[in-house]
Amino acid sequence: MRRIITFGTFDVLHVGHVRILQRAKAHGDHLTVGLSSDELNFSKKGREPVYPYSSRYEILTSMRFVDNVFMEESLEEKRNYIIHHRADILVMGNDWEGKFDEFMDICQVVYLPRTPSISTTEIIEVIKDSH
Ligand code: CTP
Repeated sequence: MRRIITFGTFDVLHVGHVRILQRAKAHGDHLTVGLSSDELNFSKKGREPVYPYSSRYEILTSMRFVDNVFMEESLEEKRNYIIHHRADILVMGNDWEGKFDEFMDICQVVYLPRTPSISTTEIIEVIKDSH
């Protein structure tokens, strides 16, 4: 059994998110998602997520290719999360290319191409501009 792990905020779920999760799961048998806490998202992106953690959690756990979701509270804990969840492969979008190579000693690290022309930030901007 090959265990996959990925990380992200997955706020205002869009097709880019669906595809990365589906493609991550295709690398193995079990997919764990480290879902950023609201506080971690604020520290990374400088804004509150549109959907709070509890809603993002509910949406992700309802997806058929997601097997487990836990709260990612700190970027410094990433190594411990990978070990704790016994991940064989870490999958991330290629906006993170090279950023997680430090974990190659404990798991395989795979970067997948992002789906072009869509992001949560862009959706928020489009909705703001339409008002
Ligand atoms: N992702 C992707 N294709 C997109 C957008 C995101 O493959 N078009 C992937 C990212 O590479 C990451 C995961 O989805 O592995 C979660 O990304 P997240 O930062 O939550 O989503 P974004 O839409 O990039 O959010 P933001 O615009 O707020 O940065």
